[in-house]
Amino acid sequence: MINLELFTTKSKKDWIQKDLKIAKGAGGVVIASVLALPDPEGTAELATEVERTGCVDMLELNVSCPMPASTVGMHIGNNPEKTRAQVATVRRITKLPLLVKMTPNVSDIGSVARACEEAGADGLCIANSVRAFPGVDVETGRPVLAALGGYTGPAVKPITERFLIEAQQACKLPISAVGGVTRWQDIVEYIMLGATTVQVATAVMWGGWEVISKYLRGLEAYMERHAYGGLDEIRGIALQHLKTVEELAQSPRATPTVDADVCTGCGECVQSCFYDALILEDVLRVDRERCDGCGLCLLICPTHALGWEPSSA
Ligand SMILES: Cc1cc2nc3c(=O)[nH]c(=O)nc-3n(C[C@H](O)[C@H](O)[C@H](O)COP(=O)(O)O)c2cc1C
Repeated sequence: MINLELFTTKSKKDWIQKDLKIAKGAGGVVIASVLALPDPEGTAELATEVERTGCVDMLELNVSCPMPASTVGMHIGNNPEKTRAQVATVRRITKLPLLVKMTPNVSDIGSVARACEEAGADGLCIANSVRAFPGVDVETGRPVLAALGGYTGPAVKPITERFLIEAQQACKLPISAVGGVTRWQDIVEYIMLGATTVQVATAVMWGGWEVISKYLRGLEAYMERHAYGGLDEIRGIALQHLKTVEELAQSPRATPTVDADVCTGCGECVQSCFYDALILEDVLRVDRERCDGCGLCLLICPTHALGWEPSSA
């Protein structure tokens, strides 16, 4: 989904004097999102005003909105030094836990994550929307939306997972993951990749608040099935299996195995294999000499009939 929701139409006064009180009155933990202003002192003033309401348990500093053409949002968050100045300035004026909402519109999130840690942030939220264009109506020749917007939902999950991994390689801050959750399994994936908490936005817009209880039910059943006592038992367990592509290139080439009981013989993997390494006769076979180990067949198989040999997993 691509949206062009711009800055709020609500006045700052209404938000600070009414909405924060309503949120606090509901009895939950209130995390107030404060948009970083071009001048860090201006951001600090806004954060002070928000903190003084006494209704807020945590501040989230947003340096990641993808829409603005310059000066705010991702134009701060894709620059480690600008982000450091914002975080350090807000850190000086608040004792509240301080989360920084990171942009995925960056090539090196590690340097921004480190700057946040050094400047005193307590955690990161990864990530905001990916800057994107929603396409052209070919009947009229006009763009569907007139400006670059923010891409969210299932398509951004692999991108968010990348940044979750890279940020943890650069800093020790706890991370709240958000991007593309549409099933309870996505939550488990993020936790297994080290996330402390997981958030959902687009899926709630699509399916209503009840998606949250649906995910919680799925998650609880999963935890019971595996007899897990808590999320800490699975947090980060996938990270130990990650390799760099350089390490992969040094390792013996991995070849897929076929579970003949699960394979339906649909041939989608044969079609997609550029190396002609999959042969479908009576059963599906892998030509180990030809196989490049790229893994495309595993991803494309609709019944998950392909896996890695245990020695190469
Ligand atoms: C319509 C819409 C408005 C959003 N507005 C904000 C915002 O004001 N501040 C913010 O930090 N993130 C905003 N986001 C980004 C979400 O908080 C979230 O980071 C992103 O959508 C990825 O999660 P998702 O794939 O679960 O939607 C918005 C997302 C959508 C779809």
